[in-house]
Amino acid sequence: MSLEEVKNYMNQIRRDFSDKPLNENTVKSNPLDQYAIWFEEAVNSQILDPYAMCLSTANKKGAPSSRIVYMRDIIDESVVFYTNYNSQKGKELAINPFASLNIYWAELERQIRIEGKVIKVAPEVSDAYFAARPKESKIGAWASHQSNVLENRIELENAVADLMEKYKDTEFIPRPDFWGGYQLQPTKIEFWQGRPSRLHDRLVYVKNKDRWRIERLNP
Ligand SMILES: Cc1cc2nc3c(=O)[nH]c(=O)nc-3n(C[C@H](O)[C@H](O)[C@H](O)COP(=O)(O)O)c2cc1C
Repeated sequence: MSLEEVKNYMNQIRRDFSDKPLNENTVKSNPLDQYAIWFEEAVNSQILDPYAMCLSTANKKGAPSSRIVYMRDIIDESVVFYTNYNSQKGKELAINPFASLNIYWAELERQIRIEGKVIKVAPEVSDAYFAARPKESKIGAWASHQSNVLENRIELENAVADLMEKYKDTEFIPRPDFWGGYQLQPTKIEFWQGRPSRLHDRLVYVKNKDRWRIERLNP
């Protein structure tokens, strides 16, 4: 397609949503329990990577940046993901710990938005997760100076080869101190269900003193 055709395509396609309601009387009172129900439906719908989510952070000027990461755990109502602490997201979280997550399951016409403060998980938690990864992934974590400029692909491949050699006789590879988990502690979780005529259902859980309150928002 040419860019002109792309633009025409975007402007012409209109899709209505099916009529599957999201009702405040039937949702769970805890949003993580509600997430579990939706997650099961995502798995049953064979959605690829149902644990993928868009993470948005902001730099010190407030300029946002977004990328996909995998949700790897839920600890005490916190959403856990793993990454390089020196990456762009890591540097931004060090300056501004507030972040948001967005999950979109097109096949189910559903979106989940999660907002809150991010802290690092306990080192033992990162150690345990790292230890359970395949050897190649561990080497990859050591080899990648995530988000820094690479001269070329060979530089990365050479770093991997050197590390493979270094660790060739051992199964134990320590976790790099620049790599580990973060946990986002939600204060707001919104469930969005597409409905006909753009009259979508939006239920938002807001946390206040350890209690979750549910509000319905205009679509
Ligand atoms: C499906 C998918 C899953 C990803 N999962 C992760 C992840 O769990 N952790 C991670 O650091 N990067 C993950 N990435 C790569 C990130 O999107 C991003 O490129 C990388 O973390 C660097 O981001 P930054 O420069 O903004 O810090 C994933 C990308 C995709 C497309």
